[in-house]
Amino acid sequence: MSGVALDVERVVCRETELAAQGVRAFTIGGGDWPLRGFVVRAGGELRGYVNRCPHAGHPLNLLPDRFLTPDGALILCTSHGAVFEKLTGYCVAGPCAGASLTPVPLEVRSGYVLVADAVDIAALAAAES
Ligand code: FES
Repeated sequence: MSGVALDVERVVCRETELAAQGVRAFTIGGGDWPLRGFVVRAGGELRGYVNRCPHAGHPLNLLPDRFLTPDGALILCTSHGAVFEKLTGYCVAGPCAGASLTPVPLEVRSGYVLVADAVDIAALAAAES
């Protein structure tokens, strides 16, 4: 058992739980408006985003943990085809080109991916609902 305390309310997943393509959905927080997001591996880094397309507000995925273009290079909104950079969340093509996904700052501690301490999870969830 490690001596590092983890705030379990903020745990997204274990690093090892990221699928082969390095992307995974998460839901954090309770009540009617939990924070729904996803974590994606981008090169050697991890990025988190709210699971909401800036175009029409839909969740990006229809199937669990399916957030990427077939080649895995970009984030894809399944509804109408917007594509986003993994590292920045910037929309490079599609109906909301030039807009960006809302970032969810993450931390990695003791092999766990967590929403960063500085993030007000309830406020971020409410802003996106
Ligand atoms: S809702 Fe995502 S591209 Fe339209």
